[in-house]
Amino acid sequence: MSSKDIVLGFLEQNKDRYISGQDMADTLGYSRNAVWKAITDLRSKGYEIDAVKNRGYRLSPKSDILSVQGISSFLDFEPQIHIYDSLASTNRTALEMAIDGAGHGTVVIAGEQTMGRGRFGRDFISPPGGLYMSLILRPDEISFEQPELVTAFIGGAVCDAVSLFTAPAPGIKWVNDIYIEDKKVCGILTESGAEYETGQISYIVAGIGINIDTDMALFPEEYREHIGRLSDFTDEKISRNNLCAEIIKRILPGTLPSKKEVIDLYRSKLLYIGKEIRVTKGRDKSECFEARATDIDDECHLIVRGSDGMMQKLSYREHSIVIK
Ligand code: BTN
Repeated sequence: MSSKDIVLGFLEQNKDRYISGQDMADTLGYSRNAVWKAITDLRSKGYEIDAVKNRGYRLSPKSDILSVQGISSFLDFEPQIHIYDSLASTNRTALEMAIDGAGHGTVVIAGEQTMGRGRFGRDFISPPGGLYMSLILRPDEISFEQPELVTAFIGGAVCDAVSLFTAPAPGIKWVNDIYIEDKKVCGILTESGAEYETGQISYIVAGIGINIDTDMALFPEEYREHIGRLSDFTDEKISRNNLCAEIIKRILPGTLPSKKEVIDLYRSKLLYIGKEIRVTKGRDKSECFEARATDIDDECHLIVRGSDGMMQKLSYREHSIVIK
């Protein structure tokens, strides 16, 4: 690791106080000149570093550049994190890495995506100002029997993490869109790869896209009415590193919640239960009907009552819902 990265890690770990150049040099085993050079390098990369005479340096609370060091400062374990300014799609890169053998817990993050993917092959518009991340999960580490539970687990975890940063709190629109006040602030796409012969899942990639403080003009006009940003629901500046870490710590290591805990958390966040909805089927929305959402079952199917009074269980593999 370069001295710039080490100094950044030190500043991130000590971001609530000033540290003199001499103390930093002594602790890290560098010369004062090397510390100064690292600070200059970091500033040239856009990091805001406050300097106060007789007190020293501090990473400005306004500084919000995603970095491994910044995310790790909020974690007590060290996942493999890869950060890019721009990618076609973090899911695509994570899937390629998974094929090449990347392990459980690898995280891929981008500041923007040029070909972000959504459910049913739709585009996910991903301009700068958002957080786009994909986590590689290996089934031997995340051994839920049904893939549906992984989806519920990720949705509940992300919603719970986002709720630390906004008021009102977010909720989940089945299956895994995160909404605040009728505005979509986050989309989640879970993809996987299986062994052809056995059908056994080898890896899962959970992709999460969150609008944080994106300039609304960067979204196509027809989307703007339905899209929200976290910054619209808080007066505080949201730290991307902090949000990213809160998501990671709910999904990666540690003990996996039980199936009941996963479903209970998911259900507690679920929006539109008891409400009239429109159900569409398939990528081309070939079928469409009106119904009332009544509950989810333990496999994350949405249970709806049609206008003819018949109950139906919907699978998210086939169906989406639209709020009326
Ligand atoms: C949806 O709303 O249909 C799901 C959108 C999922 C978007 C995320 S952003 C990070 C990851 N990379 C992608 O290309 N898609 C997911």
